[in-house]
Parts: sequence; C-alpha cells; structure tokens
Amino acid sequence: MDNDDILLRAEHLCKYFKSGKNELHAVDDISFYIKRGEVFGLVGESGCGKTTAGRTVIGLYEPTSGEIYLDGVLIAAGTRSHREAMKHARIQYREGLAAAKSDAERRKLKETLSGTLTENSKAIRNIERLSRQKRDTSRIQMIFQDPVASLDPRMTVREIVAEGLIIKGERDRKVIDRRVYETLELVGLLPEHAARYPHEFSGGQRQRIGIARAIIMEPELIIADEPISALDVSIQAQVINLLNDLRRRFKMAIMFIAHDLSVVKYFSDRIGVMYFGKLVETAPSDELFRNPLHPYTRSLLSAIPLPDPIYEKKRRRVIYDPRTAHDYSKDTPTLREAAEGHFVMCDLAEYERYRRIMNE
Ligand SMILES: Nc1ncnc2c1ncn2[C@@H]1O[C@H](COP(=O)(O)OP(=O)(O)OP(=O)(O)O)[C@@H](O)[C@H]1O
Ligand SMILES: [Mg+2]
Repeated sequence: MDNDDILLRAEHLCKYFKSGKNELHAVDDISFYIKRGEVFGLVGESGCGKTTAGRTVIGLYEPTSGEIYLDGVLIAAGTRSHREAMKHARIQYREGLAAAKSDAERRKLKETLSGTLTENSKAIRNIERLSRQKRDTSRIQMIFQDPVASLDPRMTVREIVAEGLIIKGERDRKVIDRRVYETLELVGLLPEHAARYPHEFSGGQRQRIGIARAIIMEPELIIADEPISALDVSIQAQVINLLNDLRRRFKMAIMFIAHDLSVVKYFSDRIGVMYFGKLVETAPSDELFRNPLHPYTRSLLSAIPLPDPIYEKKRRRVIYDPRTAHDYSKDTPTLREAAEGHFVMCDLAEYERYRRIMNE
C-alpha cells in the first residue's frame, strides 16, 4: 500500500479512564489507518470503546498510550508505554546487576539502561510539548450521535455553523455569511434557516445543521459518531446519502461509527470491528462480509437479517463467548494480516487456520 494514501494512522492507541481504584481500558491497544477520501466504518456493541476512539482521534481526549499521525505527522500520543519501558529497564538493570560477574558486564548493563532511559525520556518530552501546543482542529471534525444535545439551544444556526470559522480567525462578516449560506445549501437547508434556533428543527434537520458545522471547516476527515441512530428510519437514508454526496464532492474521509454492520455495509470502504476496547478485525467491506474470520465478526454478521426467505430460514444466530472461542493460555493474540489488507486478532494457531481458510 502506498503510504501517501494514508490520511490518519493510529498505532497502539490506548485510552484508559480512572474508575475508582482501577482503570477502565476503554480503548486498549488498537492500530488502524484511514486512507484519504475513504469511509472507515467502526462497529461494535455498546460500551466497546467506539466513541472513546473517535474522541481520542479528534483530540477531545489525550491518549494514555500510543500515537496518532495525520499525514504522517504526529498529532497526539500518550506517555504510558514510554514510562513503562523505563520502569522495566530499571528492573532489568537491578536484576542484571545482582547476577553480574564482571565489571565489563556491569558496564554493559549500565549502557543499556541509560540508552533506554534517554530514548524514552526524549519521547516523553516530545509528547508533553505536543500536548501543550494548540492543535489545529479544523482538519478533523466530528458529527455527534445526538443532534439535540450537540447543538447549543441559545445559538442561532448562523452562529453554530459560523463558530469554527470565527475560531479559525475569519472576521469578515460578509465572508462568514456567504460561507454559512453556501454550506446550508450544501446540506439541504435554506438561507432563512440561518436566523432560527435548533429547537425549531426536526431531528433530521438538526443533524444537517451538525453536518454543516463540520463541513464548513473543509475537513479532510469527519468522525461521524452514530450520526443516524437517533433519527427516524425514514430520515436515516437521507442523512447517509447526504454524507456520501459530500464526501465524494469534497474527497473527505469519514470514520463512521455504528452499532451494527448492516448500517455500515454499503457505505464503508473498509470496516473495523471492536470488541471490549480491542480491534478484532479490519478488512475492506466486501472482504469482511465474504470472509469474516474472527468469531465475534461472525456473530455480528449472523445478527443481520436479510430480505431473503431461504437465507433467513438457514440463518442461525451465533453467540460469541471469548472463553470458549479461544485458548489464549499459551500464546497471546496480536493483530495479524491473514490476507492483503485483512487483519485479524489471533494467536499463531488461529492465524494458521485462518490462512488455510483464505487459501481454500
Ligand atoms: N469520560 C469517561 N469517563 C469514564 N469512563 C468512560 C468515559 N467515556 C466512556 N467511558 C467508558 O468507556 C467504555 C467505552 O465507552 P464508549 O462510549 O467509548 O463506548 P461506545 O462503543 O461508544 O458505546 P455506545 O455504542 O453505547 O455509544 C464504557 O465502559 C464507558 O462507560
Ligand atoms: Mg458511543
């Protein structure tokens, strides 16, 4: 794959929340990329970490660990893995010292330790500098699940849609008005809507206001967090079509978050499946539907009804239970590439089985 095609890349991204004395691993070591102009669907059941992943990508949360790159430039990262590497190096140094038999050995151990410490503290300083910098947020925009909660009821549509432009430094009233009207038209609203307040609109129209607020910034990536799940079924297709038109027109990429696969099936170029903070499978959309490998993906697929009586008669709901589906007591699973561009979380034995399935 050509690296120039990649707009966003997340590497070993983790976001942990404090939960009493413990930590909740909402996003736990996920790696993925989004190519320029493509729709990347992120699916998984409630609470698996989809929103947290999206909010971390856009900078509403700081990563606990891992890195996020936009156009190959580091835009956010966490320090945890570097701190752990330093701690681990110190332990190894102490253990090594206790067992060392010569000065040469001790010198060698000290060199290794100081190398690791220097390297990681440099990385930490870099990350801290990065998180103090004001981030240019216009290149990535977000559309929220709940169009009521995400629009300030005291602001007019004009103020809501223009806000990002003003934050970015646009002062010319004429320019702002023109851009607002143009953008309202793009999302299927009228110029006279600009003076009204969000409560005067229907759910679908409010979501259009949310979309206008995002696209006026001409972002390269939109994070659409279940943008249609709060809408009437009759309106859902309209909003999907609108997003599709806009992304073609402006060549934007979309990270489209949804609960189930049926919503993202036709809309996504590639799909990532999350389960309890982990990304268990990513593949091009049609490939994922043709050759689902991870048992959780298979269970999600088995939940989709199709308007085909023969298929429906044969369809059996598969329930995923990680305790019986895998034996990870000997080997820890990692994300492995089973076919070109098709990644699945598995151990070596599963990987070999998946490879055989793919080659059949
Ligand atoms: N700000 C926060 N503070 C503490 N815990 C959080 C926070 N945000 C999310 N969580 C927890 O992190 C986990 C993942 O939540 P998240 O909202 O990312 O899931 P989701 O996949 O978007 O779910 P849904 O489909 O219901 O929107 C959940 O257990 C949630 O309770
Ligand atoms: Mg969510």
